Amino acid sequence: MNIPIKTADEIEKMREAGRQAASVLEMIAPHVAAGVTTGEIDRLCHEYIVNELGSTPAPLNYHGFPNATCTSINHVVCHGIPDMGKKLKKGDIMNLDITVKTADGYHGDSSVMFVIGESIQGGRLSRVTQECLYKSIAEVRPGVRLSELARTIQQHAERHGYSVVRDFCGHGIGAGFHEDPQFLHYDGYAPEADAVLAEGMCFTIEPMLNAGDYRTKVLRDGWTAVTKDKSLSAQWEHTLLVTANGVEVLTARQDEDFSFLAA
Ligand code: MF3
Ligand code: CO
Ligand code: CO
Repeated sequence: MNIPIKTADEIEKMREAGRQAASVLEMIAPHVAAGVTTGEIDRLCHEYIVNELGSTPAPLNYHGFPNATCTSINHVVCHGIPDMGKKLKKGDIMNLDITVKTADGYHGDSSVMFVIGESIQGGRLSRVTQECLYKSIAEVRPGVRLSELARTIQQHAERHGYSVVRDFCGHGIGAGFHEDPQFLHYDGYAPEADAVLAEGMCFTIEPMLNAGDYRTKVLRDGWTAVTKDKSLSAQWEHTLLVTANGVEVLTARQDEDFSFLAA
């Protein structure tokens, strides 16, 4: 495993990439509502990334992915394909995953959940999943092992009766969309894969939690990953920089309060 350490110049470019990804999620939030299609959400994000940011949506054509963003509704775990015929309805939950590649060639990757109208079950699952993300972010600093972050996520998820998806993981990020290391969100580390964090590493934490079993399958479109038992699934994602004594959330949005990291 060769985990890249970013130079000061690369870190500046990663900050810009992270800010851009966050700005897409801030831009789109007021448009996400019942009656709007996932295809329309994708179109608005795509146009914003290209026309306002001067950047590229990294998923488009990535290993053949057909769109700019991933929209994953209810029992879809990740990699849902936006669809002009798929309207959001009250009670749905949706993950919207944005990855921007800047003109400088660096990636910012972040995703959020939207609860459409009201969903007690979906809202609770989404909240616990975001707590898993925040609790693990709070532990990021040089010297910490990936398995320690994973254990934090798995314990919090299971305490609430949820399972952690194993088939998809977080990842290093930089000039490459997916770099070393792979970050598993559950406790399943081979010793040689259990990386120790160091200053200058950039990676994502993006836990996927299921209300039922952790198993997933991919639909015949080759992309859409769903829970095998059709239970609800939620995901939140940030791109992070390991700093000298902690962490910088490169994709932090205005609506988020990371003051807990200063403690
Ligand atoms: N943004 C996703 C991630 O968090 C990857 C999407 S790849 C795609 O790693 F091809 F499905 F878009
Ligand atoms: Co990612
Ligand atoms: Co992503």
